[in-house]
Amino acid sequence: MSLLSTVARIALVSILFASTPALAKEPLTDWPHITSAIPQDAATEAKIAKMVAGMSLRDKVAQMTQVEIKTVTPQDIRTYQFGSVLNGGGSWPNMDKYATAKDWVAMADSFHAQAKIPLLWGTDAVHGHSNVVGATLFPHNIGLGAARDPELIGDIAAATGKAVRATGVNWAFAPTLAVVEDGRWGRTYEGFSSDPQLIHDYARAYVDGMQGNFQGPGNIVATAKHYIGDGGTAQGIDQGITPASEAELINVHAQGYFGALEAGVQTVMVSYSSWTDTGTGKAYGKMHGNGYLVNDVLKGKMGFDGFVISDWNAIEQIPGCTKDRCPQAINAGVDMIMVPFDWKAFIDNTVADVEIGDIPMSRIDDAVTRILRVKMRAGLFGAKPSASPYAGKPQALQARDLARRAVAETLVLLKNEGGLPLKAGAKILVVGKSANNMANQSGGWSITWQGTETSNADYPVGDSLLTAIKATNTGGTVTYSAAGADVDVSQFDVVVAVIGETPYAEGKGDIKPDQSLAHSDRYPEDIAALNAVSGKGKPVVTVFESGRTVYANDLINASDAFVAAWLPGTEGKGVTDVLFGQKDFKGVLPFAWPGAPCEGRTLFPAGYGLSYTNQATVTTLEFIETPGCPHAQSH
Ligand code: GLC
Repeated sequence: MSLLSTVARIALVSILFASTPALAKEPLTDWPHITSAIPQDAATEAKIAKMVAGMSLRDKVAQMTQVEIKTVTPQDIRTYQFGSVLNGGGSWPNMDKYATAKDWVAMADSFHAQAKIPLLWGTDAVHGHSNVVGATLFPHNIGLGAARDPELIGDIAAATGKAVRATGVNWAFAPTLAVVEDGRWGRTYEGFSSDPQLIHDYARAYVDGMQGNFQGPGNIVATAKHYIGDGGTAQGIDQGITPASEAELINVHAQGYFGALEAGVQTVMVSYSSWTDTGTGKAYGKMHGNGYLVNDVLKGKMGFDGFVISDWNAIEQIPGCTKDRCPQAINAGVDMIMVPFDWKAFIDNTVADVEIGDIPMSRIDDAVTRILRVKMRAGLFGAKPSASPYAGKPQALQARDLARRAVAETLVLLKNEGGLPLKAGAKILVVGKSANNMANQSGGWSITWQGTETSNADYPVGDSLLTAIKATNTGGTVTYSAAGADVDVSQFDVVVAVIGETPYAEGKGDIKPDQSLAHSDRYPEDIAALNAVSGKGKPVVTVFESGRTVYANDLINASDAFVAAWLPGTEGKGVTDVLFGQKDFKGVLPFAWPGAPCEGRTLFPAGYGLSYTNQATVTTLEFIETPGCPHAQSH
């Protein structure tokens, strides 16, 4: 991005959002100091200093080490005294996908009993407690961005905290605060929006809802991630290089961190991505080794006094580092290292690095001080996991009404020229691969890391869209044919087609630079299902489930009504509440909707959305077939 366009972009951003405090009237020219909602407390600091003074170097390094639950026993906790454990996506106590809340709490208590300093247990509760069978899964962040409702975000974060406490866990690696600039990124749906101001407001509401002041039994530690610029990598390549001026980092990519720090977020996770400063041309390289942005900016200028955690084995990506040794990351300001497997060697190597002077003891003491500060603020001392009023309670994993309300607010109506609202009592034909597929409805980070290798049986609490339509269409009939083939459409009043993407997470979801954004290139079965039922004299209402906006002119042309539903999660009735007219459409596009398969042409701008009272006609759209895109294209 050229300097001129950067300045223009920042000017536009500040003009668009100048009315709110988060974005200065003029673009910020330096990193602001942020006053946290959680101030330092002298008595706590004195307690921490005393503890640190009494710890051995090995104890200190162990506090900085986060290990995967798959690889440790309570005896290991006793022996090594790690500071933290995590369960990665698709990791459960005893590797049992069906582990109950009580099973989770039992493991948490068994670890707690062996730890002299209480453990933090981190989990990717990124749309509800999304690893746990029976938990309510909220819409992924892309849908929440369409709702433009910070209060809803706070409620969801609070409900997520309760669900996490139900399993004896006390830390969520959420919210993701990426300002996503290229929909080809496989993590687009983990971002709320392309609008930095909205992300600022959401970050503040989310952290406040999840952490509160740590007085509520459902409060847990939140994580602002992935610092910084994860959503701005060139061509949307996951873990790629973000070409941005420092002014753009400040005025665009940092807005979520301003909001999160204002609300007192206690942890920040570093991004796998790299930064190249387009203002100076300097290639800073991997964020995990960027002492300027972590030490000098986040902790120095912005005043962050919680702790910084690395991502999964991310330290090995720094030149000269390995999974089990990286003085560069620690010296850059990373305080806790996510070492899922190689934790024994990591502790030995890091102790050695301090002993030979590669890591100053002052850096170790600062890291441990920050970790203990967060643990004390979070009230971990003296409270075993099973003491929580939510511990072991399956009902605390659920928030069905809230999720149903959220789903309804996320839906964006892009075309409304027939079929809506559905009328109960009708003869409804339902087609499409995703109508009765809770995995497609929930997306990645659902039960498993990728959201795959699951079945509807893994979602015992919730409703697929098909179930929801059957439950709502009282007095009518509902017939389901996934492919829409061999069905006489004339026998029905209306067709509902539920199509879209299949689950993915992280880089596995990237659309490669030479691929197009055309949905039908990747999922030809969907246009096939639509063509089987379209133009047969009955209205076709398409519900499109996806983790991004895509080029879909062919699908829109084959539909009389077209609803972007994003990744709604377990509460399908939130969709039918709107399709049957009990509620009106409220959502607007969180990202621009592409109007061409490659270059950045826009069909509908961010902020666009129709409703039952706000009509517009979509003319027949030109559909450009293309075998792929020139590699260098940026969307
Ligand atoms: C993953 C993700 C990060 C997640 C972490 C732990 O690689 O980048 O968002 O919190 O590992 O699962």
